[in-house]
Amino acid sequence: MAPSKAETPQETIHVELGARSYDILIRRGLLKDIGAELTRLRCAGKVGVVTDRNLAGHYLKPVTRVLKAAGYTVVPIVLPPGERTKTLRAISTVMDALVNARFERSSTLLALGGGVIGDITGFAAAIYQRGISFVQVPTSLVAQVDSSVGGKTGVDHPKGKNLIGAFNQPRAVFIDPATLRTLPPREWVAGLAEVIKYGVIEDQAFFEYLEQHMGPILKLDDAPVAHIVKRSCEIKAQVVSEDEREADRRRILNFGHTIGHALESLGGYRGLIHGEAVAVGMVYEADLARHLGHCDQDVVTRVRSLVEAAGLPARLPNVTFSALWNAMQQDKKVSAGTVYCVVPDRIGSVRVVPLAKAQTRAWFEAVRVREAGFRTVKKKQSR
Ligand SMILES: NC(=O)c1ccc[n+]([C@@H]2O[C@H](COP(=O)([O-])OP(=O)(O)OC[C@H]3O[C@@H](n4cnc5c(N)ncnc54)[C@H](O)[C@@H]3O)[C@@H](O)[C@H]2O)c1
Ligand SMILES: [Zn+2]
Repeated sequence: MAPSKAETPQETIHVELGARSYDILIRRGLLKDIGAELTRLRCAGKVGVVTDRNLAGHYLKPVTRVLKAAGYTVVPIVLPPGERTKTLRAISTVMDALVNARFERSSTLLALGGGVIGDITGFAAAIYQRGISFVQVPTSLVAQVDSSVGGKTGVDHPKGKNLIGAFNQPRAVFIDPATLRTLPPREWVAGLAEVIKYGVIEDQAFFEYLEQHMGPILKLDDAPVAHIVKRSCEIKAQVVSEDEREADRRRILNFGHTIGHALESLGGYRGLIHGEAVAVGMVYEADLARHLGHCDQDVVTRVRSLVEAAGLPARLPNVTFSALWNAMQQDKKVSAGTVYCVVPDRIGSVRVVPLAKAQTRAWFEAVRVREAGFRTVKKKQSR
């Protein structure tokens, strides 16, 4: 288990969804109280702990120990790490394990891992015997601030990400920020892209906080890390409560993702990882917003500066307009052939607009000319 530091007070965020409401608990050291928490939720009998091999080395033994101490029968289900695991084959593996261990309707699944494990576990819980309970114990920054909250679960299809799945809310989300200490640095920084996103879409003061505290955040100081996890969860919980199934308002969470997902798929999921692609996407969607007259240059400059301060990529890779536009149309957020994009009008406020191809092409060509000029000047200066 991660080095135990002084424990911080517990934060509780309520996700209001009527009969499907639940709490997000955030506390350093929470992992060792997971057994008591499940008892408090009246989970009974068997607990299937779904995790990946990277996580298993760090956390499976201690988590199993505390669950057993609380009287649970624990069935570990360890999958290979990474996005490539997020397939129907993994669901089948989980189903086999549950059937073999005679899981019942009253049994519980516990997702111990990043977004991949959370998405797989939530979907498995939705379909085993037509639905059993599950709890999220997110261990990556992406999972703690984004994927564990909101109930979107599922797996990828060879033809596209997240094409197979279900809305399925967890019974609770247990976040122990101490687990972030074992997260690889690249994954940690990638998660910061989603954190920055919350500032842009909803909370100017939070954006300013990030501008002022990026140094201590990058050093993983306890207080700022706890704050960014909490504030991100609050914003996500609020947006999801207002629009559980993404009919409208929830779409603002896709800021940076129209271009980001396109870049991710053009890289064949091998180039930029998700958060990195979203970082580039946020910078260029802000620039597109400026081009379309929704915001001024200051918004673009601040988004770019914060992305760079976090150590995230902020430059559009070498893609053609038609490749980018085609990839943007593959996104499942496209509706009736129209590509939608979330554009800021200022820091802390965004709207969703349809994109016309001709306008987007004009913007793209202007970016290319500007950046080619910028590179030539830089080259000359460096001689
Ligand atoms: N459901 C949603 O609303 C939603 C939202 C955002 C992202 N997602 C999904 O989440 C996935 C990305 O999540 P992710 O970035 O967490 O990826 P991930 O689950 O692959 O985790 C990233 C890597 O970090 C490792 N890891 C995680 N926590 C660790 C820890 N504490 N210590 C050491 N290693 C650790 C994992 O083993 C993995 O190798 C994507 O599949 C994406 O589609 C879902
Ligand atoms: Zn994302």
